[in-house]
Amino acid sequence: MLPTDARILKALRQSGHALAVPDLALAAGIPPGELARRVEELRGAGYEIALVPHAGYRLGAGPDRLIADDLRARLEGAALAREIVVFEETGSTNDVAARLARGGAAEGVAVFAERQTAGRGRLGRRWESAAHKGLWFSLLLRPRISVAEWSRLTTWAAVGVARGLEAVSGGAAKAAIKWPNDVYLAGRKSVGILIESAADPVAPYAIAGIGINVNHQPDDFPEGIVATSLREAIGTGDPLDRMAVAATVLRELTALYPVLHDDFPALLAEAEARSLLVGRWVEVRTPMGLMRGMAEGLEPDGGLRLRREEGRLERLSGGEVSVLQW
Ligand code: BTN
Repeated sequence: MLPTDARILKALRQSGHALAVPDLALAAGIPPGELARRVEELRGAGYEIALVPHAGYRLGAGPDRLIADDLRARLEGAALAREIVVFEETGSTNDVAARLARGGAAEGVAVFAERQTAGRGRLGRRWESAAHKGLWFSLLLRPRISVAEWSRLTTWAAVGVARGLEAVSGGAAKAAIKWPNDVYLAGRKSVGILIESAADPVAPYAIAGIGINVNHQPDDFPEGIVATSLREAIGTGDPLDRMAVAATVLRELTALYPVLHDDFPALLAEAEARSLLVGRWVEVRTPMGLMRGMAEGLEPDGGLRLRREEGRLERLSGGEVSVLQW
């Protein structure tokens, strides 16, 4: 059952207009006398809640903070976010989720942080996690497919995030996938995905770490980083409700999770259709060296099919890709 504050926020949001005190108290499962105190607390947390004469409470804007109860209210029923933890600051949300997994936590924990002091990306890189600008979170997963197939998780995460960002932008932003693990908006990187897993034979787990640039403006990116945010890609200039973005993305990821298990070719087809690389000449830095060729498509396991200049076919499971301009 949702906590009381989450029930209040959910009822107010669902009603879309003012809700009479007795109705709101009933929806929240508390006596009307307690409602005023709870509403006062929510106001203190930054929610605009007006008391409209003869009508009841009406919800206005919320705070620009990730609030676990509010996320719970918006995500009720999303199996991948059964439990939600929000830190104001942590090292890396992937590490927190991994600790929970090693402690035996079940699938479906979502760990968010407003700020990461040791956010990391692929290939040992640092991930810039500006406070209150983006969504930095990790999902604890225990996929029910063989560990050998867990490479599918990157494709699943990329497609789910791409769908979520498009949905929340009302179609204003088009999301493309740069294999293996980036989502691009308006031609620039906006999302990074870092899947880490432990193939423990008794209780294997995977952590899907996702970083989404949401409200960044150009000056918010450190020098030398070429990236964009959802806000910039939409182009209206208005900051977005980060919790609404988080909820939409998590709902899409949850909806696609059974597809990952039962119909991966469908996910692959969408990843291919959204691919920034397929049909283009690329250069891929791999542990075996630099390879040049035409990106022909995705392999059944999510790898990249590369036709090298001399005609040989390579199946790559990872690498750093640059698109060649000629
Ligand atoms: C990349 O582009 O190289 C992947 C970046 C992944 C960043 C996210 S932010 C949440 C989670 N915690 C981390 O430390 N990294 C991932």
